[in-house]
Amino acid sequence: MSSNSSSKSFIHFSFLPQAQKMLYTLVLLVLGTGYMMAMAQIYITHAGLDGKPGLSIDDIIIGYSGSKGATRLETALGGPMKGMAPDADRNAMVAWIHAGASKEEFDAKIKPIVEQRCVVCHSGSNANIPKVTDFDTVSKLVVMDTGMSIPTLIRVSHIHLFGLTFIFFITGTIFVHAYMRPVWFKCLVVGVPFIGILLDIASWYLTKVYRPFGWVVVVSGGFMGLSFAIQWVASIYQMWLYKLPKEMADKGGQIPGLGG
Ligand code: HEC
Repeated sequence: MSSNSSSKSFIHFSFLPQAQKMLYTLVLLVLGTGYMMAMAQIYITHAGLDGKPGLSIDDIIIGYSGSKGATRLETALGGPMKGMAPDADRNAMVAWIHAGASKEEFDAKIKPIVEQRCVVCHSGSNANIPKVTDFDTVSKLVVMDTGMSIPTLIRVSHIHLFGLTFIFFITGTIFVHAYMRPVWFKCLVVGVPFIGILLDIASWYLTKVYRPFGWVVVVSGGFMGLSFAIQWVASIYQMWLYKLPKEMADKGGQIPGLGG
């Protein structure tokens, strides 16, 4: 690095007091467990949203921007309820959905159809079969899934911005005691998570506008995880198992000329 780096030094783990290393180790163990739980949480809330088992990029995109597929009513009309009404009636219902599913039009055009074709089974007498002759009930079946709402995203964003910043400040503060060359790589491992947090959270919103941003959510999350793993493993390893090269150990752990 620059010429003044010769006056900088850092203290390696092996010269930290035992109690401090113990504190660092326990903090890392709990944070590592927390990270696993966060991964499990992502899996639970997103896996299978695209109708296929497991977690995929489509699940992430659907979670944030919604499924651009049909509403529940349209899906039913094109699927299991297909045989329940002639094409003309079903097309009229689909056209009504696409036109905004207003109450006026429901009363004028759709109610007569559903009262003729659907009421036999959808009269409301069976709690598992929605009463499609009732506008309020039908309205719930024609809501487009637009993914997580903006208020939800804002709530989750602020929790993540604060939480992840704390986590990576703590892991980074521990990790700076590790010996890792080149220095620019060490700096990258410390810095990447913060860029990752910003990119990740910005992409939650951007995915709503342009779906391929779902990839940025995944890639920036991946880089955050990678940095976390490097910091965690390097810190634990160098705290307990690693022997500093002798010429550095002789300098009392203050390693001049090796800024960072
Ligand atoms: C012969 C009885 C019968 C008729 C007639 C019928 N349905 Fe259904 N419908 C069912 C049953 C039973 C279910 C629930 C079983 C299922 O989910 O597959 C269902 C499910 C649905 C669902 C899915 C609800 C959800 O939870 O997503 C919709 C929407 C629907 N029907 C709309 C209609 C419409 C509109 C008509 C008239 C064109 C109609 N059905 C006619 C028996 C009927």
